[in-house]
Amino acid sequence: MASEKDTSPSGANSLWGGRFEAGPAEIMEKINASIDFDKILYGQDIQGSKAHCQMLIKQEIISAEDGEKILVGLDQVKEEIEAGNFTYDTALEDIHMHVESRLTEIIGDAAGRLHTARSRNDQVATDFKLWVRDASDQMDQALCGLQNALVTKAEQNAHVILPGFTHLQSAQPITFGHHLLAYFEMFTRDRDRLRDARERLNECPLGAAALAGTSFPIDRFQTAKSLNFRAPTANSLDSVSDRDFALEFLSVASICATHVSRLAEEIVIWSSAQFNFINLSDKFTTGSSIMPQKRNPDAAELCRAKAGRIIGALTSLLIVMKGLPLAYSKDMQEDKEATFDAANAFALCIAAMTGMVGDMTVNERAMKASTQNGFITATDLADWLVRVLGMPFRNAHHVTGSLVALAEKKGCDLDGLTLDEMQTVEAKITQDVFSVLTVESSVASRISFGGTAPEQVLAQVKAAKSRIK
Ligand code: ARG
Repeated sequence: MASEKDTSPSGANSLWGGRFEAGPAEIMEKINASIDFDKILYGQDIQGSKAHCQMLIKQEIISAEDGEKILVGLDQVKEEIEAGNFTYDTALEDIHMHVESRLTEIIGDAAGRLHTARSRNDQVATDFKLWVRDASDQMDQALCGLQNALVTKAEQNAHVILPGFTHLQSAQPITFGHHLLAYFEMFTRDRDRLRDARERLNECPLGAAALAGTSFPIDRFQTAKSLNFRAPTANSLDSVSDRDFALEFLSVASICATHVSRLAEEIVIWSSAQFNFINLSDKFTTGSSIMPQKRNPDAAELCRAKAGRIIGALTSLLIVMKGLPLAYSKDMQEDKEATFDAANAFALCIAAMTGMVGDMTVNERAMKASTQNGFITATDLADWLVRVLGMPFRNAHHVTGSLVALAEKKGCDLDGLTLDEMQTVEAKITQDVFSVLTVESSVASRISFGGTAPEQVLAQVKAAKSRIK
């Protein structure tokens, strides 16, 4: 079993220890080993090895007989790992050496032929790319689910009015459906970025070998094709030293996590007793051990926080990569933990957010009541002065400001002023002005493309549904 240290009598590593007289210091073994985290790449590693082996057979670089043994042996290794019958040992450093070492135990010397025309450098780049490619596809699927939840809620709330804010001050009335669709747009861009990055990622490094390519007559187009890559990478040095694909994945995840954190923050605010715009379901909240009345939006808070962790992963890998000379350096082994962790945190976030959006109930009355202060239809009044009285907008803005001051003094909203009172500020104002001062008329009037009017929102919902891929 791989548990027995696969070392020469001197203690040197049997896979690369030919020129070594002694084994590594204990601390060296510890700092060098990546098996604790890269063992999750076993599927990709075996998939890549099988593709490489098939190509070696076809190119007659190894015999069909040895190749067949290798392929069968690799399947067995995979089965053992999946059955939990596999022993890991830090002396074998990483998943690549574990797989090869166990293969040797199973099939003997033929296993040694698998590493012909290959290095762990192109091997790890291939494995990691395969993993990131899968993770991108899963991320895309998860975001599609979140978009569906948003569109469904938006459709149900196309007519629900709440204050729209700038500077978190009441600005203009908007519809809740419109607000939710703003997030739909963000996640659409995130998914576009993902797809775009995936396209760039989709070139196969296998066959770049250690850094310079190989003298064996390999067929890199075949291995690329069998691993579903668009093409082989064009430069062997770049192939083994590139981690852009992980950086791009983390960049997309960071931007998207930032969007999630903004929605999470709004959910925290909306669900507070002071706002009371929404109620979160029991499924996504917790109680307090001391304050029985509490319903804490923990899932939203954690979604807000995970962005920090994901951005941290991006920052960490950028710093690892900066200044590294070509080609591979062991620094690059530090690419994995943060990426795995970020992908995990991301998946949790999106799943929790999808659940929260789907389950939240909307307090239409509280939303509407909250529009009844803050002179939220002041812009509509100014627009009326422009449209009906032909005033330049700047003057209309000034007149409206005076009317707001008057209402504030009187302690009412704009529609609480009488026509006489309004006319003390601007004599030409007529009764017709009151038709634009309600929040309903305000939102209904905002029919410009992409605007907040319920009919626009329903049109946007329809378009969104057809845009979700
Ligand atoms: N475990 C290594 C990594 O993750 C594999 C590549 C090792 N290559 C080498 N030349 N030591 O980067």
